[in-house]
Amino acid sequence: MATTPDKITASSLQSKKQRGHKISMLTAYDYPTAILQDAAKIDVIFVGDSVGTNVLGYRSPQQVTMDDILHHLRAVRRAVRRAFLLADLPFMSYQPSVEAAVKNAGRLVQEGGAEGVKLEGGEPVLPQVRAIGAAGIPVVGHLGFTPQSQAREYYLFSDRRGTVPKFQGKGPRGAKALVEQALRLEDAGVFALVLELVTEEAAQVVTERLEIPVIGIGAGRHCDGQVLINHDLVGLNDEDLVLAKAYGQTRRAWLDIFTAYRQEVEEGRFPTADNVAHMDPDKRAKLDELLKGNGQGR
Ligand code: KIV
Repeated sequence: MATTPDKITASSLQSKKQRGHKISMLTAYDYPTAILQDAAKIDVIFVGDSVGTNVLGYRSPQQVTMDDILHHLRAVRRAVRRAFLLADLPFMSYQPSVEAAVKNAGRLVQEGGAEGVKLEGGEPVLPQVRAIGAAGIPVVGHLGFTPQSQAREYYLFSDRRGTVPKFQGKGPRGAKALVEQALRLEDAGVFALVLELVTEEAAQVVTERLEIPVIGIGAGRHCDGQVLINHDLVGLNDEDLVLAKAYGQTRRAWLDIFTAYRQEVEEGRFPTADNVAHMDPDKRAKLDELLKGNGQGR
């Protein structure tokens, strides 16, 4: 795979933090989107388990499998040249054991072409973080709202997609616990940390205390970088989430496009003369003759 001279690596992300340069990260689940994100010089392109609720129509991130992630990761891998390509370890791919974690992290790298993997949680996953790091695979942590373990109450019995705005780090004890978990993950070897739905104040303390980059989603303005779900960014989802910003209204635009197409087909306005190819008139006449000769002149 050809890369670009300004290829983003785990160490270039860390030096961005040291230089005070903000990191941009987006989810991608398919080839054309990843091509555009890479061309736009997004630093980290992330195949998240949010593929389940955003693309596959699942009601919960707990339904996402290793095969789902690998399928979408391979498509994104074919597109990405410059960005750091990060992949999610889905639910039950790392929780059961350290062995499962290392094996599945290895599959994302070997079979999917990931350059790093992300997992959710603090204390309970420290052995997994250490073992994946020891195997030579860069690991990213994820604290705050962790959809894989908190999914049941939010997704399974609901028609809603996406996260419910339940912020962590509102009180001093909770914020202190978050800082401690973040420090423990850093000690265990994560090279970056995602903070989801955390108060701006608590996220700022975590960002200042950690040497590794802290990337926020609904975690305020002081993180070292920001991550958004692609479909929220382009306005493809119909929900207005507090943690997201739609930079365009793709949903409205696509609905108008699909409706216009259907109307033109129904009214015979598509295809037009510009969309067709022709037979030479003499060949067309010959066709009539051939069909008559076949006794099929009906
Ligand atoms: O799966 C995902 O998209 C995520 C982001 C919220 C960071 O974990």
